[in-house]
Amino acid sequence: MTEPLVLGIETSCDETGIGIVRGRTLLSNTIASSMDEHARYGGVVPEVAARAHLEALQPAIEAALAEASVTLDDLDAIAVTSGPGLAGALMVGVGAAKGLAVSLDKPLYAVNHLVGHIAADIVTPDSEPLEYPTIALLVSGGHTSLLHVKDLTSDVELLGETIDDAAGEAFDKVARLLSLPYPGGPEIDRAAAGGDPKAIRFPRGLSKPQDMAKHRYDFSFSGLKTAVARWVERCETEGDPIPVADVAASFREAVVDVLVTKALAACADRGVPRLLLGGGVIANRRLREAALDRAAATGVTVRIPPLSLCTDNGAMIAALAADLIASGRRPSTLAFGADSTLP
Ligand code: KG4
Ligand code: ZN
Repeated sequence: MTEPLVLGIETSCDETGIGIVRGRTLLSNTIASSMDEHARYGGVVPEVAARAHLEALQPAIEAALAEASVTLDDLDAIAVTSGPGLAGALMVGVGAAKGLAVSLDKPLYAVNHLVGHIAADIVTPDSEPLEYPTIALLVSGGHTSLLHVKDLTSDVELLGETIDDAAGEAFDKVARLLSLPYPGGPEIDRAAAGGDPKAIRFPRGLSKPQDMAKHRYDFSFSGLKTAVARWVERCETEGDPIPVADVAASFREAVVDVLVTKALAACADRGVPRLLLGGGVIANRRLREAALDRAAATGVTVRIPPLSLCTDNGAMIAALAADLIASGRRPSTLAFGADSTLP
């Protein structure tokens, strides 16, 4: 059988992503983001995101088809993120995918967003095939998860995740405390460039021995955010200028330290010498640098897809469905719905 031509739809958060793959080959990856509309609120507003998906979907599908030089009739299957994510946002993508599948009489695959992030690696141009097992660290504005991937299509174990804020959310909230614009990640990264990461010893969430016993692979960033808030308040009360560069560098170091330490602990515990990174926070220079350096020191190889495939996108959803088809998985029935808390 020739490799399946799959169109993937991703609308779990604020990116409307449409991707087209032929088997493991990426043909197009179109992304429309409503991030600008959320900027004035300092975070993603679910209602705004859902409405923006409605407006962006049709043009994004047309652009992706044109870029891949294929038509809707050429497609072998439709894939869509069914969860986890924002309920209203997911519903727009799921509704569109069902409509397309029924009207075109094509098989439909409902896939998990987090597993999709791992599949981004498959369609990374010119990369060697991903080897299993691998540990995956996914960090974005919506999730912070550590996974043990034994087989992409059938055996992905969630080792741990954030028990409060996602790492990207922490960047966004701390940026706000420092009067930096949204999205905060790139702003903190920039501000931190001139700062001393050792200037302030901010807390590393869930890293004390008693926490590690129960939450070895879980993350917590709300205590860190509160510690930064207290620091800023103290400066204001005492009339001192806020040392923005040092606060940004020290905060970033605390986040990066926990993420890398826990990911490498999972690699060591499970005897897995491979670590895959994904999610928009991977844009962080210090995170990539620390992961590469510390992994190399312990004999772990790190894989980082290009940023356009790390942030939410439709190509990873199409790629996962193409792998499911290759593994013989049957299509989903129309009985599924958007599931914001899909495990
Ligand atoms: O994956 P993504 O594009 O969208 C979702 O969260 O769904 O990730 C966006 C998040 C935002 O919270 C943003 O502040 C963060 O990724 N981010 C960064 C950087 N660039 C984006 N965080 C830290 N450092 C960066 N350079
Ligand atoms: Zn994501």
